[in-house]
Amino acid sequence: MKSILSGCIFLFVAALLQAAPGDSLVIPPLDQGRLSSAGVREYRLRADEGTRQFYPGAETPTLGYNGEYLGPTLKLLRGEAVSILVENALTEATTTHWHGAHLPAEADGGPHQVIAAGGRWRAEFTVDQPEATLWYHPHLIGTTAEQVYAGLAGMIIIEDPAVDYPVPAEYGTDDFPVVLQERRFERDGSFRYRPGMPDIMHGYAGNALLTNGGIEPVLEADTTLLRLRLLNGGNSTVLRLTLDAGISFYQIASDGGFLEGPVEMEAIVLSPGERAEVLLDLRSYRGREVRLEAETHLGDRYTAMVIKPAASLRANGSLPARLASIPEPGRGSGLSTRPFVMSTMGRGGRLTINGKTMNLRRIDERVELGTSEVWEVSTDRMMMSTPHSFHVHGLQFRILSINGAAPPPTLAGYKDTVLLWPGDTVRLLLEFTDYTGLYMYHCHMLEHEDAGMMGQYEVRES
Ligand code: C2O
Ligand code: CU
Ligand code: CU
Repeated sequence: MKSILSGCIFLFVAALLQAAPGDSLVIPPLDQGRLSSAGVREYRLRADEGTRQFYPGAETPTLGYNGEYLGPTLKLLRGEAVSILVENALTEATTTHWHGAHLPAEADGGPHQVIAAGGRWRAEFTVDQPEATLWYHPHLIGTTAEQVYAGLAGMIIIEDPAVDYPVPAEYGTDDFPVVLQERRFERDGSFRYRPGMPDIMHGYAGNALLTNGGIEPVLEADTTLLRLRLLNGGNSTVLRLTLDAGISFYQIASDGGFLEGPVEMEAIVLSPGERAEVLLDLRSYRGREVRLEAETHLGDRYTAMVIKPAASLRANGSLPARLASIPEPGRGSGLSTRPFVMSTMGRGGRLTINGKTMNLRRIDERVELGTSEVWEVSTDRMMMSTPHSFHVHGLQFRILSINGAAPPPTLAGYKDTVLLWPGDTVRLLLEFTDYTGLYMYHCHMLEHEDAGMMGQYEVRES
């Protein structure tokens, strides 16, 4: 029933909105900041309203950072002090959260660091984590989903100047951000963001997939190796990504950095908030076409982008054998275990973790600085029909097990967000190092988060 219905709506919309096929992939500008005389690298973001033509002739009202939709890619260097000024030119409050970053609680940009309409906020911290692809987005209680949907999001690249990894790293040449976001358009071109109860529960389906804010864009590749930084920046649909033409992904990084070495994958599954960096070896595809396809957990299919390798390709390296060495996480034995049960069974349409719906005045969990713990996250068995995406602020964790089994190699590195299919239980290893303060954990299906599936943990001095 559902798929027939959304199928009809899709045809109806498609008849009125025609994408211009063949538009080039938009590469968000790379913002490397400006080094101040005090040695602090400074960045500036301004959240504002705008419009963009996703479909020719139809102006879509949007929100963006330093532009009409999405925001610049911020490049941060490990070891540097940074200062990011965020100006809020919106008519409502917002926050700007650095998803995946290890930083002091007051710089996290979560629901506590509210930026009033017309106000500004400065995040100051020292970059202290391995090279990785992170991202930023609003995080205000109750309006996160809506603000992200309208376009507020951007990528962050953390680079470690002390290590030279043998992978393509020329932004916009052989190293590309790929922000994937499922969206629903109205016939007039505006976004339709009106999730009903079933959408909140199971995921808000769309009728288009935006890739860096474009529909089925084309990426002209001219190197033998192509690095894509894939982000599921959508609200609440899990994406299963594949390549046609029988070509594989070589996954090289997960949320928090490089894997030990490339892992050959036929499909990459990303829940909202998750990232995967992949390499494509285009040598046998000269002059041909490779399509990146996406299927959502609700069954909708899209072409995310079309990669067109040139007839002659410049050699820019080969698949590395090893990338990083990642310490064995052990089995977590001897550590205290904290349960987290994600449930869609809350009262009045509210969703819960451990039977509680989000309350900013309540601290749900208290942990001690300098300790490690196992967090055992599971989904409510009464309502086993929706996936969840569990995310923790302030750190990168390790997955110890998924339903009792060791994680596959692509999930064995550093992670900050983990997909749970209905009925799943995952055991995570968390280490509370460096910073005290209040951080969030929540479901990254943004409709779930806004419906209360979030809690706060406090790291305290022991
Ligand atoms: Cu991507 Cu709590 O956030
Ligand atoms: Cu986050
Ligand atoms: Cu959820």
